[in-house]
Amino acid sequence: MHPATEALLRWWDENAREMPWRGIRNPYGTWVSEIMLQQTRVDTVRDYYTRFMARFPTVRALAEAREEDVLKMWEGLGYYSRARNLHRGAQQVCEEFGGEIPRDPETLRRIRGIGPYTSCSIASIAYDVPVAAVDGNVIRVICRLYGLGDDPTETKARARIGELAEELVPEKRAGDHNQAMMDLGATVCVPGTPDCERCPLSKLCRARAEGTAEELPRLPKARPPREKEWDVLLIFSGERVLMYRREEKLLQGLWCFPMTEGHRTPEELRDAVRRRYGLETEKPEPAGEARHVFTHQVWRMKLYLLRTSGDAPEPAGMRWIPRGEIRALPMPTAVQAARRIAETQGERD
Ligand code: ADE
Repeated sequence: MHPATEALLRWWDENAREMPWRGIRNPYGTWVSEIMLQQTRVDTVRDYYTRFMARFPTVRALAEAREEDVLKMWEGLGYYSRARNLHRGAQQVCEEFGGEIPRDPETLRRIRGIGPYTSCSIASIAYDVPVAAVDGNVIRVICRLYGLGDDPTETKARARIGELAEELVPEKRAGDHNQAMMDLGATVCVPGTPDCERCPLSKLCRARAEGTAEELPRLPKARPPREKEWDVLLIFSGERVLMYRREEKLLQGLWCFPMTEGHRTPEELRDAVRRRYGLETEKPEPAGEARHVFTHQVWRMKLYLLRTSGDAPEPAGMRWIPRGEIRALPMPTAVQAARRIAETQGERD
């Protein structure tokens, strides 16, 4: 066994963080947890994982669920295509693999939502298949351990990191090893200033010896997110509010209030609502502002309350939702402020 692997496993035996999906011997649970952990911190995932598994305890239960119920359990976790793909993946596992999660990474990759990283993390954690699972944390650990100064987002450097990571994987306990790498990256070998004093690999670490640990990995500068302005329209017809299910790639399948791009005056807004939805409304009433940061966009939202007649027709592709039923729909965090206003505005009348 590589000396770094040995030191890391010894460290893991003492320092493994407790997580509800660790030690479960349930490949389905491993799959769910690995999808939730993509781009999301462990502490955020804990409760979501526990609730999701209580609601959909088996791959069959998930396969048979309605997409809207799956999205509802994912509400607030973000990157909702993960939930849609997991749902479809569960159906695929039932149809193509008799309800058994496959063992080998290549077969796993045929399942919706499972890519190169996740196929290896599931295979190693659920079945101890000796393959490396290389996520952002692991890239950082490897770049430092071997003193690699190349940009790890470039194909050649990334391939080299993959090779080095594979060399560290032990024949047995591959799942523990991979999770130890992730934990080390998350708690000790952190971005910025690593805690080398506590690191089981510090004696073997090239970046530590060369004094470059803080500079590695050398990632390209992230582009700042694009700012987008929206007017969000809470259009009431009696006790019902106008909503629609998004078909756009961003937030697909989630329910939102109608929004128009850019900011308008209340008069302009009323004209836009008449033109776009064929609804006659009273003058829009400003109801606050909200902001939401996505990975590549920032939404700046102005919220407006609009009233139309109690028997207004339903505009194409939209639904009048009784106020008491809003809560049951899966909605993105971006419009939670608007939802709160929609749910309570009648109380102020
Ligand atoms: N990130 C992705 N998978 C993980 C796991 N199993 N443990 C800790 N962090 C992770």
